[in-house]
Amino acid sequence: MKEKTTQTLGALGVRSAEQLAPLIAGLREEFERDTTTARDDVSWKAFRDAWLGRKSGVLAAITENWLKAAPTPDLKRAAGQALNELRAQVEAAIEERRRAIEAGAEEASLASERVDLTLPGVMRPVGSRHPIRQTFDDIERIFLSMGYQVVSGPEIETPYYNFEALNIPEHHPARDNMDTFYMETPPGAETRLLRTHTSPMQIRTMEKQKPPVRIIVPGKVYRRDNPDATHSFAFHQIEGLAVDVDLTFCDFAGTIDYFIRQFFGPGTKSRFRPSYFPFTEPSVEFDASCIFCGGSGVTGAGLTCSKCKGSGWIELFGAGMVNPAVYHFVKYDAAKLNGFAFGLGVDRLTMLKYGIDDMQVFFQNDVRFLRQFS
Ligand code: FA5
Repeated sequence: MKEKTTQTLGALGVRSAEQLAPLIAGLREEFERDTTTARDDVSWKAFRDAWLGRKSGVLAAITENWLKAAPTPDLKRAAGQALNELRAQVEAAIEERRRAIEAGAEEASLASERVDLTLPGVMRPVGSRHPIRQTFDDIERIFLSMGYQVVSGPEIETPYYNFEALNIPEHHPARDNMDTFYMETPPGAETRLLRTHTSPMQIRTMEKQKPPVRIIVPGKVYRRDNPDATHSFAFHQIEGLAVDVDLTFCDFAGTIDYFIRQFFGPGTKSRFRPSYFPFTEPSVEFDASCIFCGGSGVTGAGLTCSKCKGSGWIELFGAGMVNPAVYHFVKYDAAKLNGFAFGLGVDRLTMLKYGIDDMQVFFQNDVRFLRQFS
C-alpha cells in the first residue's frame, strides 16, 4: 500500500472521500505490521524514517501526492483529515516503541550487571616481608636506638667515590676482589660503575656534613662474582660510620658487641681479628660465637658443628677505625677527629640468623620459601 502514496489521487482514480477510506485503512494495517519490525535502536530508526522521514517518509508522500495534489476541495479536506489522524497514530506508536526498546535495553544491561552477593569472595593472598627486608629493618632499628641516622646513596657511582676517596688508588690490589660492572659512557664522559660496596656514602656524607657523624647506609651493591651458596653478583650491605672528637677503639668494639647481641641474641659473644681495608686503620674482621652450637663447636649429638667447623666462631664482617687518609679527601681535621666504620653483608647475616644455607633462595622469589617469613 505504501507504494501507492508515490502517485497522486488522480492517478490512482480516487475521486471521493469514500474511495480514499480503504486506502487509508490499508495504510493503517501496514503501519501496524511495520511496528513489529522495530525491535532495537537500529531497526526502530529505520521504521521511524520509513513513516516520518521528511523527504521519503510515507506521511511526507501523502502530503505531497494526495493532499497538495487533491483534484477537488472535498477530497483535499478528506485527505487532510485522514492524514492528521494517521499522523497522530504513527507518532504515538513510534514514540511508544522507542520507550519500550529503551526499557528493554536497560533491563538487559541491569541483568548482565547484576551482582550476586551470595557468591564467595575472591581470595587476595597477603604477602610477607622479604627476609632481607626484615634484616634491614632489624639492623636499622638497633642503630636508630643508638642515635644513628639512616641515609641512602646512588647505586651508580664514580671511581672517585667508590675507590679513590676511600684511599684505594688506581692499580691498588684491593680493587681486584671488587672487579665490577662498568657503564658504557660516551667518549669523554666520566667513568661510571655499579658501586661495589656502600662505603662511598662515607665520603658523600662527610663531604656534606660537619662532624659528629653517626650514619648507617642500607643498600644494594654489585660485584662480578659468580653466584653460589654464599655469593651473588647483586647483594646487600649496610655501611656504618661514626666520627667524633673523642671516639676510641673501645667505643667501636662496644658498639659492635652491642649490635651482635641485639641481632643474634643476648648470649652471643663477639671477637675481632686483624684484617686489612685501605680506608680503615687498624682494620678488623668481627666474628660472633656460633649461634648454632652456642660457641662450643660441638652439636647436641656430640658431632663437630658443621656451621662453624668446630671453631665455635662465625666470621661476620669487616670494620675498622677510619684511616686518617680518608679525612684528607673530605677536608676533615685528621688531628682532632677519630671514628670507626663497618660494612655488614646483609644477605650473609640473614642466612646466619635464619639458618639458610643457600643465598640464591633470596633471589628466586619462590613463595614457598618467602611465606615462611611473615
Ligand atoms: C667491604 O665491602 C667493605 N666496604 C666493608 C667495610 C666497610 C670495611 C667499612 C671496613 C669499613 P667486603 O668486601 O669484605 O668489605 O664485603 C663486606 C661483606 O659483604 C662481606 O663480609 C660479605 O658478608 C658480603 N659480601 C661480599 N661479597 C659478596 C657476594 N658476592 N655476595 C654476597 N655477599 C657478599
